[in-house]
Amino acid sequence: MNNQVQIAPITESLPQLLSQSDYSKVVVIADTQTRRHCYPLVKPLLPAHTLVTVPSGEAHKNLTTCEQIWNTMTKAELDRHALVLNIGGGVIGDMGGFCAAVYKRGIDFVQIPTTLLSQVDASVGGKLGIDFQGLKNHLGVFNLPRVVLIDPTFLQTLPPQELRSGFAEIIKHCLIADAAKWEEIRYKDLDEQNWTDLIAHSVEVKKKVVEQDPTEKGLRKILNFGHTLGHAVETHFLTKPKGERLLHGEAIAVGMIMESYIAYRKKMIDRQVLEQVEEFIFSIFGKIFIQSEDVETIINLTRQDKKNRGREIRFSLLNGVGSCAYDIPVSSAEMRQALAYYAG
Ligand SMILES: NC(=O)c1ccc[n+]([C@@H]2O[C@H](COP(=O)([O-])OP(=O)(O)OC[C@H]3O[C@@H](n4cnc5c(N)ncnc54)[C@H](O)[C@@H]3O)[C@@H](O)[C@H]2O)c1
Ligand SMILES: [Zn+2]
Repeated sequence: MNNQVQIAPITESLPQLLSQSDYSKVVVIADTQTRRHCYPLVKPLLPAHTLVTVPSGEAHKNLTTCEQIWNTMTKAELDRHALVLNIGGGVIGDMGGFCAAVYKRGIDFVQIPTTLLSQVDASVGGKLGIDFQGLKNHLGVFNLPRVVLIDPTFLQTLPPQELRSGFAEIIKHCLIADAAKWEEIRYKDLDEQNWTDLIAHSVEVKKKVVEQDPTEKGLRKILNFGHTLGHAVETHFLTKPKGERLLHGEAIAVGMIMESYIAYRKKMIDRQVLEQVEEFIFSIFGKIFIQSEDVETIINLTRQDKKNRGREIRFSLLNGVGSCAYDIPVSSAEMRQALAYYAG
């Protein structure tokens, strides 16, 4: 599995790619936001092409939108030598990649991720898919794009809350794989971070992990640090009024504190490390208020995790800074303590 990723101005990387290729047709997939903010930068670099614009947001990462995309591909008479360009965040990358991967049993696609989250996480690793009947990423495949073209320039129009959400995955990559990088980021505020450098770092960490374990039999699970309780918190907050919902990274930030506490209690990290993690994450993300009556609901939600086997809940937990262990069984009592610690 070879994840090809290029971090460069799109005005250089895309023309270079196209000059080396001979595609019969090009289809661009964007959502309403990326059509407005990102497509104008790409359009002048492209030959004649068809543009599909789909509604933005996770709510549209579904079969109905896929049908719209496949309809357009079919009407444009795309053959197997055509190219799909996905311009957008993780929703467009996952869904556009999925549409390309099954159209006529698979045509080439290129990811042009435009959110921080998709640049440091979603666009790397070959997981593609859509939500189905309320289940996240329920239908999907593993398939690699021809290349991922990352240009940090796109981040300039990204809402600040989205930028912060993507930063959670960068924090995760530092904590699970690189103690020195953690030391570098943890003294800086969000607006002092060097995005180009951090994107390159995160891509390297993720690539290295997924290349050793593309289909998540073992090692790849370390990328789930913060995600077992984080996902449960994210799902729980979906039931809240719109203004109180959490972005993915915001929930993962909560999960990283809770799961660091579990690691501390299991003597996998020192108290000092727990405090560092907590202090930095609170300084960037603030603290989320979780009502005591919601604790059991959140704990129960961890059972929905796709990674579970049978009844036991298994976590990926820090094993010192820059290292992570996986498949560690965690009891409901331990989770309860972690939620209480976070709230405390
Ligand atoms: N495949 C994987 O390995 C993987 C990993 C992590 C997450 N994901 C998936 O990624 C999705 C979340 O991705 P996301 O956070 O990028 O969400 P997203 O794609 O919904 O983008 C967030 C919002 O930002 C807008 N936007 C995107 N780029 C913009 C820009 N440059 N300027 C202004 N607005 C812009 C989008 O239109 C959207 O409204 C989820 O569906 C998740 O399942 C996949
Ligand atoms: Zn994540």
